[in-house]
Amino acid sequence: MSAEAPQATLRAGTAEDLEAVVALQLASWRDAYRGLLPDAYLDGALADDLVAKWRGKLIDSPDPRALLLVAESPAGVLSGFFYAAEETPGDASAYLDNLHVRPELRGQGLGEGLMRAAVPMLQARGYSGMHLLVFAENAAAVRFYQRLGGRIAARAVEDLMGHAAETYRIVWPDWRAVAQ
Ligand SMILES: CC(C)(COP(=O)(O)OP(=O)(O)OC[C@H]1O[C@@H](n2cnc3c(N)ncnc32)[C@H](O)[C@@H]1OP(=O)(O)O)[C@@H](O)C(=O)NCCC(=O)NCCS
Repeated sequence: MSAEAPQATLRAGTAEDLEAVVALQLASWRDAYRGLLPDAYLDGALADDLVAKWRGKLIDSPDPRALLLVAESPAGVLSGFFYAAEETPGDASAYLDNLHVRPELRGQGLGEGLMRAAVPMLQARGYSGMHLLVFAENAAAVRFYQRLGGRIAARAVEDLMGHAAETYRIVWPDWRAVAQ
């Protein structure tokens, strides 16, 4: 993290973080995906969908190779989190499923700090690379990943609740660049 980054402690997340993780992702999606996903979904069913999703990941069927890394303020408030897991069993590349920084703390180095800290932890879990999907319209996030060495490997158009949305598959040909 840069010298200007807000004070944050990084630690492995647990099932006890479920409520805070859901609240942060909800706030993050409502802010970053407004206009991209329907308001009715962002302000409606999304909350329950996220509870169900995180219950599955953290309680009901946790992936033993998954990594939940959380950033906390000195007061113990969740500032951001990183979650990567297997997309298909035995994958050499970790699927970065979620990276979120509290909207009011973005642009201060927390996201980069989470990415850099996560790489050696994923290597320890046997991964040798990382990939993710990002909305093409999420230009700030695309730039963020590219600055950390990610490359657009494929483009696709997906149907999101009746809206056509372009996505990029980002891969790290050499992810050691992230940790440098
Ligand atoms: C993408 C994200 C995780 C990056 O974390 P961060 O702590 O904001 O990023 P850092 O401060 O470490 O790095 C700076 C980069 O953050 C992004 N950024 C900076 N300010 C931002 C803001 N106010 N809003 C969104 N992104 C911002 C930019 O890409 C910036 O790079 P740039 O200076 O070249 O424009 C974070 O902005 C976020 O949670 N965004 C919303 C959720 C999201 O899009 N997640 C990724 C989904 S695939």
